[in-house]
Amino acid sequence: KVLILDFGGQYNQLIARRVRECNVYCEVHPYNMSLEKIREFAPIGIIFTGGPSSVYEEGAPRLEKEIFEMGIPILGICYGVQVMAYTLGGTVKPGHIREYGRKPVEFDTDCTIFSGLAEEANALMSHNDTIYELPEGFKSAAHTDSCPVAAMYNEAAKLYGMQFHPEVTLTENGTAMIRNFLYNVCGATGDWTMKNYAQTAIEQIRAKVGDGKVLLALSGGVDSSVVASLISKAVGRQLTCIFVDHGLMRKNEGDEIEAVFGDGSINFIRINAEDRFLARLAGVTDPERKRKIIGEEFIRIFEEEGKKIGSVDYLAQGTIYPDVIESGVGDSAVIKSHHNVGGLPDYVDFKEIIEPLRQLFKDEVRALGSELGLPENIVWRQPFPGPGLGIRVLGELTKEKLDLLRDADAIFREELHLAGLDREINQYFAVLTNMRSVGVMGDGRTYDYTIALRGVVTSDFMTAEWARIPYDVLDKVSRRIVNEVKHVNRIVYDITSKPPATIEWE
Ligand code: XMP
Repeated sequence: KVLILDFGGQYNQLIARRVRECNVYCEVHPYNMSLEKIREFAPIGIIFTGGPSSVYEEGAPRLEKEIFEMGIPILGICYGVQVMAYTLGGTVKPGHIREYGRKPVEFDTDCTIFSGLAEEANALMSHNDTIYELPEGFKSAAHTDSCPVAAMYNEAAKLYGMQFHPEVTLTENGTAMIRNFLYNVCGATGDWTMKNYAQTAIEQIRAKVGDGKVLLALSGGVDSSVVASLISKAVGRQLTCIFVDHGLMRKNEGDEIEAVFGDGSINFIRINAEDRFLARLAGVTDPERKRKIIGEEFIRIFEEEGKKIGSVDYLAQGTIYPDVIESGVGDSAVIKSHHNVGGLPDYVDFKEIIEPLRQLFKDEVRALGSELGLPENIVWRQPFPGPGLGIRVLGELTKEKLDLLRDADAIFREELHLAGLDREINQYFAVLTNMRSVGVMGDGRTYDYTIALRGVVTSDFMTAEWARIPYDVLDKVSRRIVNEVKHVNRIVYDITSKPPATIEWE
């Protein structure tokens, strides 16, 4: 395994991701991890990340020289190479040459990191400080027109570093450079796979939980489902999952979740609370008010169930890497309230939180889910808002309207799946507008609802582009919905991006 020492840079997660893509296990730890701890961790290699500081600044993260004398190969990136140069007696000049953005770099392909790669390629630079004098035993391994030491190396000592960021896709051959370090310097064998990860995680959970009890709020989303599956494999019926079905799920979704988790291998509690939610939402039309009521009712139900269970030892959460907010340098990560309806259920009496997905990226969570044998419909489930269809039936909610939307939405999803578009469109759904219009069916006049279809392509859901769904697919969806779903006589497709629109309509 590889150790990534975190100096607080913005791309640190990406470094971990690249290393894992090379099938090498890695963990990110704060830069000030003690030498003793590092020895215990026994990494085959260490990567120093970038960071916002300047090595000469007061309070800048520094290293002890001994770390370079442990015989462990090290790769320093951006601040990581500066701190390496500084600690080993080179000089780093602040503000001497500033470089930002993608720049052509020339490489010395004798250096193992660049061997077998192009002699010139573009790389993402983002630094204020530069290495001015190399430490003893080092050679420059790359330069740009303004920076003579864009990379340095000491092959005998197995120490390498670069000013640019190999972890971002803007840097050509970046992953290949990381791979060279892992395979040709550290001697990695590339045996880290989701299968191994699953085994290790299961063993760790088992060791930690012992004969304790674990509680998990299961929403049926990818993250909480994978956590449920992992913990159930580790401790079986010591795990209790509470699934609050608020009646605002998509068609058959509640039953699908029950089919997967209700087989008796864990304590699975499904609360069918549709009536309670609908009663509280009756007559409410304002979207934010609807959200608030759904969130509150959710907490209330969880609270009631939590009381019945009594105290538990651990509360499990599906927190994943992108949920972990980096604050400051290296350590002290803050948890974002994961469950997207209610936040941390702090009324449940528990000792500790366990978050087995805390180090994983979304695509890795999906791969792990497949590895654990979860069905495709759960592993590839698109993001679904906590308030569910409550914010996709515009205005007042009724059971009839929800059922109508569920049918229309199911047709849309089925057709996108058949057209092979369901993985490239990141979120897609039907909305029941509260508009009715005149139509003609057979010989009769109709006055029925309009269904809006929405599909977006996005990587972060902060901005999104409307999906260019082929006309013939839209045509088929439109025909099917008006024919198969009563009280719908018009279909529109939403062609606004975000911004200025949002993904959801409410
Ligand atoms: P918007 O509509 O804000 O949506 O562009 C961005 C992403 O967030 C989801 N979303 C929600 N998720 N509770 C949630 O848990 C909510 O109230 C909520 N509103 C929007 C939306 O589905 C999209 O993925």
